[in-house]
Amino acid sequence: MIHKRKIIILPGDGIGPEVTQWGRRTIETIGECYGHLFEFEEALIGHSAIQATGNPLPDETLAACRKADAILLGAVGDPMYDNNPKLKVRPEQGLLKIRKELGLYANLRPIKIFDELAHASSLKPEVLQGSDILFFRELTGGIYFGPQERIAEGDVAISTMIYSKDEVRRIAVKAFEAARTRRKILHSVDKANVLEASRLWREVIQEISPEYPDVTVHHMFVDNAAMQLIKNPKQFDVIVTENMFGDILTDEASQIAGSLGMLASASVGDQVGLYEPIHGSAPDIAGKGIANPLATILSVALMLDIAFGMKRESEAVIEAVDTVLKKGFRTGDIADPGTPKERILGTDAMGQKVLNEIQMAVSLVTGDR
Ligand code: IPM
Ligand code: MG
Repeated sequence: MIHKRKIIILPGDGIGPEVTQWGRRTIETIGECYGHLFEFEEALIGHSAIQATGNPLPDETLAACRKADAILLGAVGDPMYDNNPKLKVRPEQGLLKIRKELGLYANLRPIKIFDELAHASSLKPEVLQGSDILFFRELTGGIYFGPQERIAEGDVAISTMIYSKDEVRRIAVKAFEAARTRRKILHSVDKANVLEASRLWREVIQEISPEYPDVTVHHMFVDNAAMQLIKNPKQFDVIVTENMFGDILTDEASQIAGSLGMLASASVGDQVGLYEPIHGSAPDIAGKGIANPLATILSVALMLDIAFGMKRESEAVIEAVDTVLKKGFRTGDIADPGTPKERILGTDAMGQKVLNEIQMAVSLVTGDR
């Protein structure tokens, strides 16, 4: 019997539904072209879940995710919360809770420049070309999940960065293992000159390092890392860092890839994994049909590889994106002043171009289409 793989789609908010639709169609196309069976189910998360149920992560969503083989998420968030810090129920809680509940402690964020997009970045093309960085952001600990409270009648607030050695060790092992399959350079980013939690972090990296004699380890303070990333991104191969530093550095690093609209991510632990674009819900362009679906499509490539071990299929998706870019097609966020108008596509046209390339590449090999 052919194994049917079940994928939960969590469209979420803003441009989430527009881009996950193309993620789903990419998976369907891969299924048709390569003879795999995929089954889909949609569930609520974020602001749309709050509106429907009052809960940013309804129990049914969590239960469905636990039973799935992989999860594809769009984005969560809505501007109505941004200027109202007093609102107690918030879309982001849904995302944080699903990460915690499913034990998704390792957030992989590959930053790879598609050379055609070097001009879309505000950084110099010659600085970017050839950059290839894989971030391992710790995702279920640190200041995001440490105790927080208001004291002194609400006039003082405390947020706490907290890490155990075990939490650091499990993400560090994943990062070391990955470095081993790449250029064998690992940068561990911390703030050990100031923070006790960072000194523990560094201690653990130093403890593990002898088990990976083939991997060269560099410890770097986060402020320096922020500078080095845009000064000389090519020095980096794998970067491992704690939750909030990783949140900030990966947004910065998106400029190395040309645009936040291109960046995919995988959040994995010991059970089912969650795949999502790094960009947010982009409420300013939601519903306009101009969102870039490529980060979601590239997240599907990560899913095919990591969740299903479908390397060839994953590469077919990445190749298709590359070909579409090489042919000069762009969404607005990755266009440059020289892009001809007719090459600037909306979400649907761009998604369809990628699917066409996947189908074309497969028919060239099999000759049956
Ligand atoms: C991300 C996002 C989230 C985070 C927000 C939406 C809670 O910025 O995935 O990087 O801070 O982790
Ligand atoms: Mg972020």
